[in-house]
Amino acid sequence: MLPSLFVYAYLSISSAITLVNADAGKAIFLLAGQSNMAGRGGVVNDKWDGYVPPQSSPNPAILRLSADLNWQPATEPLHRDIDYFRACGVGPGMAFANSLLRQDSSVGTVGLVPCAVGGTNISEWARGGRLYNQLIRRAEAAVKGGGTVRGLLWYQGESDTVNREDAELYQRRLERFFDHVRHDLVLPALPIIQVIT
Ligand SMILES: *[C@@H]1O[C@H](CO)[C@@H](O)[C@H](O)[C@H]1NC(C)=O
Repeated sequence: MLPSLFVYAYLSISSAITLVNADAGKAIFLLAGQSNMAGRGGVVNDKWDGYVPPQSSPNPAILRLSADLNWQPATEPLHRDIDYFRACGVGPGMAFANSLLRQDSSVGTVGLVPCAVGGTNISEWARGGRLYNQLIRRAEAAVKGGGTVRGLLWYQGESDTVNREDAELYQRRLERFFDHVRHDLVLPALPIIQVIT
């Protein structure tokens, strides 16, 4: 169900570390993109089958920021109140957080911030749009309770493969989006993990 991924990391860890809050708090990860990030694992005929694979199990050290900006124990479907026009199922967020904690339990508490919406194209994520504003607003709300945004997980692009022109403009639009997010969150070295399918 989780695709085999080439994970393409735009990392500049050294400068990111200087931005870590003194009160370490949560390690916060923003989840954005389209349906592959929102999660359609186990969705058949617009209904989720309820099956949670072991790598996506709940974990007391993993929280999610709800649509109304409260931290709660993270359970699938992570995007249920964000991508609410569609049936959501299992996505990559929980498996990522569990894997991170397995590799380094000193991470502490992982705070996942679901922001992905199915079917969206890169132009809809441009600065000033509803999705962009929601991403920034949720990221800012997430750090209020203590913690640092440690990364953006981005899984999007299929909607930009329909027209050749959009496909050709994709890289430029994507880089602009990443630049704007880093600038507006004042995290110039924010690690961005992008899935290339
Ligand atoms: C992106 O999606 C929006 C909303 O569905 C649509 O209006 C627009 O034409 C799409 N493509 C581009 C390149 O903006």
